[in-house]
Amino acid sequence: MKLVDELNQREFDGLYRVRRTIDSYQGPLVVIDDEEYLNFSSNDYLGLANNEVLKASMIAAIEAYGVGAGSSQLVVGHSTPHKMLEKRLAEFLNRDAALVFSSGYLANLAIASVLIDSNTIILQDKLNHASLIDAAQLSKGRLVRYRHSDINHLKFLLEKYKNNNLVVMTDGVFSMDGDFAPIVEIAKLCKTYDAFLIVDDAHGLGVLGDTGAGLLELQKLDQLQVPLLIGTFGKSFGGCGAFVSGSALHVEAFIQKARTYIYTTAMLPSLAAAMTQAIDLVENAGELRQNLFRLIKLYKELMQDAKLEASESGSHIQPLIIGNANKTVELSESLYKNKLLAAAIRPPTVAKGTSRLRLSFTAAHNKEQVARLVRAIKNNLDEQ
Ligand SMILES: Cc1ncc(COP(=O)(O)O)c(C=O)c1O
Repeated sequence: MKLVDELNQREFDGLYRVRRTIDSYQGPLVVIDDEEYLNFSSNDYLGLANNEVLKASMIAAIEAYGVGAGSSQLVVGHSTPHKMLEKRLAEFLNRDAALVFSSGYLANLAIASVLIDSNTIILQDKLNHASLIDAAQLSKGRLVRYRHSDINHLKFLLEKYKNNNLVVMTDGVFSMDGDFAPIVEIAKLCKTYDAFLIVDDAHGLGVLGDTGAGLLELQKLDQLQVPLLIGTFGKSFGGCGAFVSGSALHVEAFIQKARTYIYTTAMLPSLAAAMTQAIDLVENAGELRQNLFRLIKLYKELMQDAKLEASESGSHIQPLIIGNANKTVELSESLYKNKLLAAAIRPPTVAKGTSRLRLSFTAAHNKEQVARLVRAIKNNLDEQ
């Protein structure tokens, strides 16, 4: 199909993406074309993206280290802020070592060149984030997907492929559904079948666990049970960039072999300094986490009062499943007219027939804003 026809078809199917330009910093309220919008689409779960301490730390590091890193990490791009961030991360996550990447997408792709050979079967949850799927597809191994959070299916596949090298990859908190992987059971199965377990907890870090160390902290799983943990700084930490963390051996293997580490410019040193500071903020954000979970509870109660079906997710990611892509876009557009941002998520990001609004709650929202969201959803659905 010609490119122009393909794009036209996308528009017809309700799958065309349009970017909105935000004229302000990120927060519960953002400005677009001089109008204020209530934002329920951000991953800035702890409200740190415009935090004064982080801004000051980044500005100070710009004064000391300038703007660009100058090269990739293995040439001359590895600077003191990167080294300090890695040390602080390892301590925060209670792991031997950590390695900083320029983005979560790149950190996940790195797995393809480091841990997978042609004899590897990569077992992945059906709802894993695209970057995990792409890692497997770019690798020399074979991708096999198990039904979402279905432990029996995973066990069946582990048994079937037990003569291969086995790698299991899962999101911790699923990015579009907000539910948690049954990680304790998965870790047990991986031990039984000697499969290497990789968890990407991009959305759990900062939000879950007493110190914000994510789903693994919540479920009390350590490096022996989950040898590789991946996370990003683009969500709860209020910045961008990412890391892999695990044993010294595994981290060294990423330094030596990861193509998306070796062949890309290092993260801005100033950002590395700010993210080191962000770990302190995340660790001490117990009250913010409590506030966030109070808001989620309120959302669920208000949805019930309004006789609307909220998802089963108990987390800060709340999908409102509409099904049809065009109808989802219609609802998102109507909310936009009411000065509310609630992004329509459609295929290929989610499966066909499961288009949804992906509502994300942050510790920076307040009760009145949640109430306004539910009122607007109710009014717009009633009118549709
Ligand atoms: C589970 C998961 N992993 C990785 C990523 C990619 O991270 P980054 O935005 O840092 O590239 C995302 C989303 O952005 C995600 O949801």
